Amino acid sequence: KETEDQLIIDAGQKHFGTTVCKSCGMIYTASNPEDELQHVRHHHRFLEGIKYTGWKKERVVAEFWDGKIVLVLPHDPSYAIRKVEDVQELVDNELGFHQVVPRCPNKTKTFLFISDDKKVVGCLIAEPIKQAFRVLSEPTGPESASSKECHRAWQCSDVPQPAVCGISRIWVFRLKRRKRIARRLVDTLRNRFMFGCFLSTDEIAFSDPTPDGKLFATKYCNT
Ligand code: ACO
Repeated sequence: KETEDQLIIDAGQKHFGTTVCKSCGMIYTASNPEDELQHVRHHHRFLEGIKYTGWKKERVVAEFWDGKIVLVLPHDPSYAIRKVEDVQELVDNELGFHQVVPRCPNKTKTFLFISDDKKVVGCLIAEPIKQAFRVLSEPTGPESASSKECHRAWQCSDVPQPAVCGISRIWVFRLKRRKRIARRLVDTLRNRFMFGCFLSTDEIAFSDPTPDGKLFATKYCNT
């Protein structure tokens, strides 16, 4: 039987097999020239994209021991908008989103988590919505295996629920995950989305969640 596994010869190379780059987080096969080239390309673009030099007029909406959250609004100076566009491009590449344009670009709020070493390590993009559809719990029968294969085809209820805020993107840099950065971004969003009120978890909705996004949302919203 033919196997699709890629074989690698151990000829005593310095790096061998699967490697995770400690700066850009890309997983690649060191010793495979094609993979190494792809890594070099991604590495520079990624680090340039997430570099944050600081702005004179930045809107800091939360501060933590390991970084801060900056809010960017649609009419902010072009340097801030450009940074958001660069980060969104990286995020969309990772999520496999292509040219997903926000429904109301003038009302979009973008929250960037900036690490102490001046990198954008988290991003949340939110927009106002009026309704959302609950993801139904997964079937547990034998057919559930196929639903896992087509990752994002969650079954949704067709009964609309009133909602206020849609999270169109949430992303945390691979090497910084499980440090509650996403949780802090959503907490901050709930506090800052509408002036003077703290949104309940029923009022926020995650659009088209990935498997990671669904696991996070389920835990965050206790659903
Ligand atoms: N598997 C299981 N549980 C998870 C996962 C996961 N991958 N991620 C988060 N959780 C749960 C955990 O219970 C976690 O608490 P714990 O670490 O104490 O157990 C809790 O959620 C809080 O997690 P955070 O640390 O706040 O989440 P993190 O900062 O790692 O970010 C995120 C989560 C944004 C989903 C990240 O994994 C990511 O960027 N993934 C790739 C991009 C992506 O898929 N984004 C979602 C797209 S959907 C959308 O944009 C609407």
